[in-house]
Amino acid sequence: MTDWYARMLNAPVGGPLARRLGLPRPAELRRHHPGQPLVDGPVLIGAAGPSRRLADHVQALLEPDATADPGGRLGAAVLDATGLAELAELGAAMEFLRTCVRRLGPSGRLLVLAGPPERADGVEAAAARQALEGLVRSVAKELRDGATANLVLVADDADPRAGDSTVRFLLSARSAYVDGQVIRIDPARTDGGPPPAGRVAVVTGAARGIGAATAEVLARDGATVVCVDLPAHGEALAATANRTGGTALQLDITTPDAPARLVSHLRERHGGLDVVVHNAGVNRDKLLANMDAERWDTVLAVNLRAQLDLNAALLSDHGPLRPGGRIVSVSSTTGIAGNRGQTNYAASKAGIIGMVRALAPSAAERSVTVNAVAPGFIETEMTGAMPLATREAGRRINSLRQGGLPVDVAETIAWLAEPGTGGVTGQVVRVCGQSMLGA
Ligand SMILES: NC(=O)c1ccc[n+]([C@@H]2O[C@H](COP(=O)([O-])OP(=O)(O)OC[C@H]3O[C@@H](n4cnc5c(N)ncnc54)[C@H](O)[C@@H]3O)[C@@H](O)[C@H]2O)c1
Repeated sequence: MTDWYARMLNAPVGGPLARRLGLPRPAELRRHHPGQPLVDGPVLIGAAGPSRRLADHVQALLEPDATADPGGRLGAAVLDATGLAELAELGAAMEFLRTCVRRLGPSGRLLVLAGPPERADGVEAAAARQALEGLVRSVAKELRDGATANLVLVADDADPRAGDSTVRFLLSARSAYVDGQVIRIDPARTDGGPPPAGRVAVVTGAARGIGAATAEVLARDGATVVCVDLPAHGEALAATANRTGGTALQLDITTPDAPARLVSHLRERHGGLDVVVHNAGVNRDKLLANMDAERWDTVLAVNLRAQLDLNAALLSDHGPLRPGGRIVSVSSTTGIAGNRGQTNYAASKAGIIGMVRALAPSAAERSVTVNAVAPGFIETEMTGAMPLATREAGRRINSLRQGGLPVDVAETIAWLAEPGTGGVTGQVVRVCGQSMLGA
């Protein structure tokens, strides 16, 4: 689907015209291409407070790109605020970000690393840590040209390496549409599992949209992908499976025998499973006053009941999900904020968040992580079917002033699915360009 407004602005005549009229100008976001450098330009690394533990670690992680010319343009800036204990030290954080904001290039990255407020040593330290959230979420709204700002809360007792995959993801072009987020890194009880190249992944709803993009990104990262979708979409499903070198399984995930059929496909064709992406979803919008049982039941069955039943089968004692496994569910910002005419959809997507949080602790005992992504407005056939005015509003009410692409959600899912992301579990990561909905 095309964003005609963004295309017009990026054409030779449209840009100057929009500038003169003072219209919002969505930037062309930097997205991942094989072989490109992690960050587009030098990275400035600083610290607020007495500790440089993570600053030094990130410096070593990013070598050899890590040094910035004094005063020059930056690809990214990383602030280690893990030592922040007093309110007075917050000023140093503000000062660092203030100088960086001015130097940040297009699609630049601001990343703040801090300790979790609830684990701080004393009330003032907790207040100072929490203040960073307001600071980062606000600066994210001030950045321009596709730049983003995110906060990573690293548990004080976590190995510094536990955050590596998250730091790399948030600095890279793979996180193009992840903005204004707070992500927690726990001491990783759940690291491990086979390396990306040997893994088997299931993606539901893989015939098109976000599911097809996810199958492609997971295959790029080396996984063998089992692509699942309705028999009615068999042709498009086969096309995704062929493109990704995976297998196609025509399956309505709401049928009573769906979990058993998926489990036997995995056992017979692949020997086990490492990554599950619950992406299949539907909407049947109506105001609550006019909501009928059919609309309610269909949406709850596909978006939530099926995920609960599939998880029960995949995680059962003799289930195929191996240690180090990853479950990623596709929720929605609508499940966080609610939306007029979408009581059924919002209930199902909020239910996913409840499911993920409740399942994470027991899954961690098997070294499995369980997370959700919550996309905002993504350019797919689902949003293409919206009325024009709703669609245009959905695209613009975020800090990046544009809709995301299916690949943006796919890259976020692939990061959560990485073996190195074991410290992230029970969380909801929004892929919404910092949408004002549910912010
Ligand atoms: N597009 C957005 O802006 C957006 C925003 C937030 C969340 N989401 C969520 O992302 C997911 C993918 O969305 P999309 O925009 O790519 O949608 P889409 O309609 O393009 O694709 C959804 C796929 O799920 C499949 N599916 C539906 N019911 C199924 C069933 N019973 N069994 C197996 N497969 C089934 C469909 O056939 C389709 O191929 C959905 O869960 C959706 O709710 C999308």
